[in-house]
Amino acid sequence: MPSSLQCIDCAQQYPIQRQIYACESCGGLLDVRHDIDRPRADISAALFDERLGALDAPYNSGVWRFKELIYPGIDDSSIVSRMEGNTNLYELPRVAAYAGIDSLFLKHEGENPTGSFKDRGMTTGVTQARILGMTRVACASTGNTSASMASYAARAGMQGIIFLQNQQIALGKLAQGIAFGATCLQIDADFDRNMELARLISEKLGIYLLNSINPFRLEGQKSIMFEALQQLRWQTPDWIVVPGGNLGNSSAFGKGLLEMLQVGLIDRLPRLAIIQAEGANPLYRHFRGGFRQFEAVKAETIASAIKIGNPVNLQKAIRALEWTSGLVEEVSDQQIMDAKAVVDGVGIGCEPASACSVAGTKKLVERGLIKRGDTVLGVLTGHVLKDPEATIGYHAGKLPRLQPRYANKMLQVDDNLDEIIRVLGERAP
Ligand code: F0G
Repeated sequence: MPSSLQCIDCAQQYPIQRQIYACESCGGLLDVRHDIDRPRADISAALFDERLGALDAPYNSGVWRFKELIYPGIDDSSIVSRMEGNTNLYELPRVAAYAGIDSLFLKHEGENPTGSFKDRGMTTGVTQARILGMTRVACASTGNTSASMASYAARAGMQGIIFLQNQQIALGKLAQGIAFGATCLQIDADFDRNMELARLISEKLGIYLLNSINPFRLEGQKSIMFEALQQLRWQTPDWIVVPGGNLGNSSAFGKGLLEMLQVGLIDRLPRLAIIQAEGANPLYRHFRGGFRQFEAVKAETIASAIKIGNPVNLQKAIRALEWTSGLVEEVSDQQIMDAKAVVDGVGIGCEPASACSVAGTKKLVERGLIKRGDTVLGVLTGHVLKDPEATIGYHAGKLPRLQPRYANKMLQVDDNLDEIIRVLGERAP
């Protein structure tokens, strides 16, 4: 059976070449569907393990290593790749102790080529754009999607067009979009409005939309789960903890985990915990309200990557929560920045939104939902260099309303040997 697009609500199917992002009958979100809903002799852990460390394309990519589960049957020459994925899985005892558990694994998606997990979705999204013969691609972004799309569009010789909120984007991300030659539109509107604008303009002008509403993005992002589980020798952890913004990752994780179970790569599902910032918590509120009446929020948080009040993948994220008996938690900006300082302080580092995984784990342990002995796999979604202003602001005590509880204060010292020795004496371990 060839791959197809399928509505998650009414199950209407469409040919895979259709350039649509919602069901034409009921408006529901679309899935990419492959023939992988049962065990298949040609898909096995041994096959994927054999490809580890491959030197040649496409299997040198941590996404395309799992090609049979990502986009079976496509011609390798159409793949647009930057050898994304292949990110490290760290076991970090000091961060585990902070969160109150024995064992914590952090999968560092900030180690992707443009410094965030978006590259995994962009290799599949831009590959599909190339298959469809598109010359222009667009996205609204809080910064990482745009940085990634700009890079992959440039690789593929396409024009990237990015819709950004004025002033709010972290500097590292903005710099990438500009550097990679995308057309950068700074618009006086928040992410949610920019998302609407990007959809409307893309439809009007026939531009390919590469936000995570595009189901090909999520196919690539499933590989975070494939690769993490491979690194855990195909042993399922008790929990997967991930930040939630537009809810593309959570949705992709649910689909990827279910597919792994269906083809027999794992024998049980972990529970998914989606963590939102308190000021950008529409899924959390909806979860607490028993998923009865969804209300968008006006988002505000220091974690600008997830400053999103009306997530486009809401229904897919709810489905992922149902499949995995998952739950949703919220954390404050203070908890986010403290957890970030702890992850940074062990020499690994991440951007503010990523620290939700650690702050959320800690909170769920305190609430008794995650047990001390549970195995937890958290996802760090972005690199420490993405948002230098937030990092330096925290350590300098210059972030409004936030206490620098884990501050590494910079020291101003005179050009004087005795003075330097005295200061170092005060800081001796
Ligand atoms: N972490 C980081 C670092 C992100 O950049 C994002 C999303 C998320 C978490 C949330 O992931 O949307 O799949 O729930 N950033 C998008 C962007 C929205 O435009 O870069 P999600």
